[in-house]
Amino acid sequence: MSKKSDAEVALERAYATKGPEANRELYASWAPTYESGFMVDSGYVYHQEVVKVFCDSFSELNGPVLDVGCGTGVVGGEMAKLGVSVIDGIDISPEMLAEAAAKTHNGRPVYRQLVEADLTGRTGLADGAYAGIVSSGAFTHGVLGPETILELLRAASPGARFALGINSAHFEEFGFDHWLEQRRSDGHIAELEFRLRPIYSEADEDDPDQWTRIAVFAAV
Ligand SMILES: C[S@@+](CC[C@H](N)C(=O)[O-])C[C@H]1O[C@@H](n2cnc3c(N)ncnc32)[C@H](O)[C@@H]1O
Repeated sequence: MSKKSDAEVALERAYATKGPEANRELYASWAPTYESGFMVDSGYVYHQEVVKVFCDSFSELNGPVLDVGCGTGVVGGEMAKLGVSVIDGIDISPEMLAEAAAKTHNGRPVYRQLVEADLTGRTGLADGAYAGIVSSGAFTHGVLGPETILELLRAASPGARFALGINSAHFEEFGFDHWLEQRRSDGHIAELEFRLRPIYSEADEDDPDQWTRIAVFAAV
């Protein structure tokens, strides 16, 4: 029997973690090695895939972007490289946020503001504050379900662009396609599309946990 890699062990632990409090605890210990250990060992490309899809989805962005479940700030780092200039991050873990606060691009902090909040409930985000909303890695087992999208829509300005990465197995389990189609028929969102992208550089085609369905849409 082959020995599991550290990244596989870390992921199994993460997928078994359910709910905000348990996640806060998990990420308190994972924060210092998340990038140098897990991301490197697993060949994590999720943040890059989400940011590429997000940046391809609009011609102009007139306002700040929110990085949902920003963790150590790898999505913000990618967006800054592609010229997105005003980025806020939100996450439940103060330890992950401390890593994000240290991220710089061209000598300036990547994030304008970092908010500590539980995204399974109402946050202190202002109504209509964001022109773009992105996420990688937070819509997954035991973390965020479709109902969080209602809170994000509250914080989005009319026409705001969304690119939300959703773990493919979690997507199926919680019926994100049906839930989002419903929001489209209710007139809350428009231009809904899904893009299938790998989470890891060598993703196994047969394992839905190694793929993301990126939901791309506009707030109405
Ligand atoms: C797998 S990490 C993804 C981090 C980063 N976006 C990336 O792609 O590397 C998931 C993040 O979701 C955050 N998280 C977990 N539960 C949360 C909740 N209820 N509210 C807000 N953030 C949460 C964790 O603290 C963690 O930083």
